[in-house]
Amino acid sequence: MLFGTQTINSKGHLEIGGCDTAELAAQFGTPLYVMDEDLIRSNCRDYIKSFRSKYPNSKIAFAGKAFLTAAMTSILRQEGMYLDVVSAGEIHTAVKGGFPTERIYFHGNFKSASELKIALQAGVGRIVVDNMQELELLSALAAEAGKTADILFRLTPGIDPHTHKLIRTGQADTKFGLNIKDGSAMAAVTRAQELPGIHLTGIHCHVGSQCLETDAHTTAVGIMVEFAVEVYRKLGITFDEINTGGGLGISYPHDQVPPTIDEFASKIADAYTHAMETLGLPNRPTLVQEPGRSIIGTAGTTLYTVGTVKTVPITEAPGRRTYVAVDGGMSDNPRPALYGAVYEAHVANNMNRAEGEAVTISGKHCETDILISDATMPKLIPGDILAVKCTGAYNYSMSSNYNRFTKPAVVLVSGGRAELIVKRETLDDLVRQDVVPDHLKR
Ligand SMILES: Cc1ncc(COP(=O)(O)O)c(C=O)c1O
Repeated sequence: MLFGTQTINSKGHLEIGGCDTAELAAQFGTPLYVMDEDLIRSNCRDYIKSFRSKYPNSKIAFAGKAFLTAAMTSILRQEGMYLDVVSAGEIHTAVKGGFPTERIYFHGNFKSASELKIALQAGVGRIVVDNMQELELLSALAAEAGKTADILFRLTPGIDPHTHKLIRTGQADTKFGLNIKDGSAMAAVTRAQELPGIHLTGIHCHVGSQCLETDAHTTAVGIMVEFAVEVYRKLGITFDEINTGGGLGISYPHDQVPPTIDEFASKIADAYTHAMETLGLPNRPTLVQEPGRSIIGTAGTTLYTVGTVKTVPITEAPGRRTYVAVDGGMSDNPRPALYGAVYEAHVANNMNRAEGEAVTISGKHCETDILISDATMPKLIPGDILAVKCTGAYNYSMSSNYNRFTKPAVVLVSGGRAELIVKRETLDDLVRQDVVPDHLKR
């Protein structure tokens, strides 16, 4: 399956954004993250258009944890998106990219005093308060700075979506948010009315990520509206906005088929409108969504150079396994190791090569470091350029310097133009923050 602007050119090479990926690999080196600008923009537009056509008072915030660089925040600004951040580093990146800070939602289950001060200072639009201690702290800091913080409360609706256990967050037993059922959420809303420096604008939840069905989301929408009704009845307060997080999945392997953005928007907006009407909410709060993966996931492709190819005896069965090693691995894509995530790949420099036997694509780190297990691929030879698809989300943003690997460059491609948006790290970058104390120099 090809995504966005991906196509096969007359040389039989994979092309993205009108750029030949074999040439990108030669020009920028590998591993290389290639981001399809047109697809990022069209996904942003689809989200805005789909939600607004079903519920005009909607806002779409991109979840920066999926992929954030200064250039990305510039694209989001141009597309009229909002932005969800979770750290001072992400706020700083947005500021660097010229992103309007009033369009930022600041999340996180433990925001330090210094991070909250940075957010207040930068004029971040909404702080999504996770717990009571944070509420008290934020009130004190805002009052001290002579400011009023517009907040939402992060709530746990008590739902288990059908997704990997490490990316489920809406269930009762989670580190995130205030529980609705045990009264914590109502207590926080009540307390927010008494505190200086706090203006409660709404409520937020996020049930989980890589969801291929919408039932967890639609149930959560109902629970959030039900809570808003309860708050109105008890305290006479209405919310300006209800934010139901992100979580729409993508086709990592081609047999994972998520709803389209438009289908997703229909389900959420219908559930929202239905809940407000049937439960009797007196106002119609803004509906906010926070997609990450479904905007950026399929827009990213990682190019690797194939290094060694070897066959070894299989331990548990007769036969031999072929290991193909590429020049990256878990430091640029930790998701297979973290979640058993499944990827598919192409031979970028020969898209027409006939399929061969199953191979296992491994990285070069000192761990098992498998990127793709038992993939039926064309025969791979050293020097081939392997394009691993759907690496736009939670790859660059989760990359590390494990084994002192330098982080890859990121290029943005569109209309035959390839521009560097993150430079490849150098060996000197790796030791830039290292300090050798004097007594070790002797
Ligand atoms: C609060 C919040 N919003 C949005 C997202 C984005 O989720 P996704 O990338 O699955 O759309 C996440 C992901 O963890 C999240 O925690």
